[in-house]
Amino acid sequence: MTSVDTTIQRIRLTGKPSSSDALCTTDLVESPWNFDAVPGYGPGSSMSDVIPTGAPRQGVLPEEYRTASADELDRRIRHAKGVLGDRLVILGHHYQRDEIIRYADFVGDSFQLANAAQTVPSAEAIVFCGVHFMAETADILAQTGQSVILPNLAAGCSMADMADIDSVASAWAELERIYGTEPDAQGRQPIVPVTYMNSSAALKGFCGQHGGIVCTSSNAQTVLEWAFERGQRVLFFPDQHLGRNTAKAMGITPEQMPLWNPHKPLGGNTEQQLVDARVLLWHGFCSVHKRFTTDQIDRARIDHPGVRVIVHPECPMPVVDAADEAGSTDYILTAVAAATEPTTFAIGTEINMVSRLAAEYPQHTIFCLDPVICPCSTMYRIHPGYLAWVLEALVRGEVLNQITVEPGVASTAKIALERMLAARPAG
Ligand code: 13P
Ligand code: SF4
Repeated sequence: MTSVDTTIQRIRLTGKPSSSDALCTTDLVESPWNFDAVPGYGPGSSMSDVIPTGAPRQGVLPEEYRTASADELDRRIRHAKGVLGDRLVILGHHYQRDEIIRYADFVGDSFQLANAAQTVPSAEAIVFCGVHFMAETADILAQTGQSVILPNLAAGCSMADMADIDSVASAWAELERIYGTEPDAQGRQPIVPVTYMNSSAALKGFCGQHGGIVCTSSNAQTVLEWAFERGQRVLFFPDQHLGRNTAKAMGITPEQMPLWNPHKPLGGNTEQQLVDARVLLWHGFCSVHKRFTTDQIDRARIDHPGVRVIVHPECPMPVVDAADEAGSTDYILTAVAAATEPTTFAIGTEINMVSRLAAEYPQHTIFCLDPVICPCSTMYRIHPGYLAWVLEALVRGEVLNQITVEPGVASTAKIALERMLAARPAG
């Protein structure tokens, strides 16, 4: 399996895709800066999701970075990194392109990167090669005086954007009207808010303020257990699939986890359904993981008898049920790294990570369940041109694209994040 970058490069050079290059959009061969002035998430899986008004936009990347060759950008990034030394730390999420991951000091899943952000107090600048909510989290957890930089401000997350503070606050008000606010005989409050890490700092702050907590895909079950010790029910946002898959694994039935549609009164439920609920699932999803289907798993099992199918828990429940295993990006990496015998793996997660695993573990056969190359359209927005631009600015003493969370929000969000950091991933 060749990397996404190599495929795109080959198409650029030859002018057309080959029969093996099934791309979800030919726009992928364009550089991200061609989309900076255009509203939307850019090419890739979530390009048809609706971007909220007011989502951060990236200004014009100076021409020298748009026209520099890959070799020149590589030389300039390495030089800037060398000059900055320990004053800089670069964090890279697994879904970043290879052309970025090679410069990262830490590569990991969201839980690990939230921890990593805290472990380098000497760094004046944390350059987060990931998406906006990850950079916000790093800023909340960073030391005073550290700046967190997101190389392309348009690198958001379409799923995180599906829940906003106003809709969650009004859902909460409706729920309080139905449940009241009095704890039961065991001292458990009627409902506890749990936000997935993939959410704005404002929502993390909401959880901090209302006795709630943040979870990631690696500790979601531990977090739900924490929430059920303190509450009779959970309002889980924004990812319905992670919420449903985790609650199902804990024995909660589909009837006990109704969907909350923020555009409908009572979220589209009756009062009785809400009273009977254990987990209310916000109507959010990840367009990258929604691409995976049980048909793809059936195909993989026919074509590769004995294949080990591992998917991310943001996939819909039937896909998680049909897979052999489900876990965070770190879980997937660890499972592949731990396999001692040559194994065939079909992976249901973002394509950059899968193609990198295939290159790094040639003793195994590793492929993406989805035959179409369709990266996360916001992770795609981080390109070496932007990295070179922010690093060279740091060398000159300028901080560009700083992500700062307002102190009033940061203080309550930190409470919910610290509860999450204490809830270690199971196993
Ligand atoms: P992980 O925490 O598993 O890295 O997931 C982050 C993410 O955005 C998955 O879509
Ligand atoms: Fe958001 Fe999905 Fe991209 Fe992860 S893969 S950053 S959840 S859109």
